[in-house]
Amino acid sequence: MSNFTIRPATPADIDAIVDLDTRITGMPKREYWQGLFQRYGAPGAEGFLLVAMRENAFLGFITGEIRAWEFGSPPCGWIFALGVEPELRLEGIGTKLFDALCHCFKQAGVTKIRTMIARDAQLVMSYFRSLGLRAGPFIELEKDLDE
Ligand SMILES: CC(C)(COP(=O)(O)OP(=O)(O)OC[C@H]1O[C@@H](n2cnc3c(N)ncnc32)[C@H](O)[C@@H]1OP(=O)(O)O)[C@@H](O)C(=O)NCCC(=O)NCCS
Repeated sequence: MSNFTIRPATPADIDAIVDLDTRITGMPKREYWQGLFQRYGAPGAEGFLLVAMRENAFLGFITGEIRAWEFGSPPCGWIFALGVEPELRLEGIGTKLFDALCHCFKQAGVTKIRTMIARDAQLVMSYFRSLGLRAGPFIELEKDLDE
């Protein structure tokens, strides 16, 4: 599919993003998406929320942010989440969303991207590997806190 465009999200896109993310993850989080949109829309924001559209039809989204020096890491672009409408997958929309976000990161001066995925997320793993991402130098550690 080539007749679509990618642009920054507007308030009118939030419902579609929330709806697709809920269908993908099973967890509705409208406040999270609204908060993200408000932060990334602010002047000088270092985050991006992009949507793929064909005319007025919503096709998918991607979001990410530039973070610096947490965990000792130099500035890099983190991809936080993405989704493409299920019936429109494997037509290159996810790749174009990725390319557009990488372009935003490059324009902002970063030269590396990172993401984190669940170990059993084979589809997302295949997608990111096809786009050239490989295991990096960090590992995640976690622990449940007692009440
Ligand atoms: C991952 C996702 C964004 C890919 O979107 P897409 O529009 O289908 O991606 P593309 O068509 O650009 O595919 C790019 C590459 O990813 C890989 N890929 C995509 N879907 C795949 C599948 N079902 N099986 C294996 N590889 C796949 C392929 O290598 C593909 O390249 P190819 O078609 O040349 O082989 C989409 O499947 C999706 O939204 N999945 C759910 C995402 C999710 O779980 N989000 C929540 C956590 S962030």
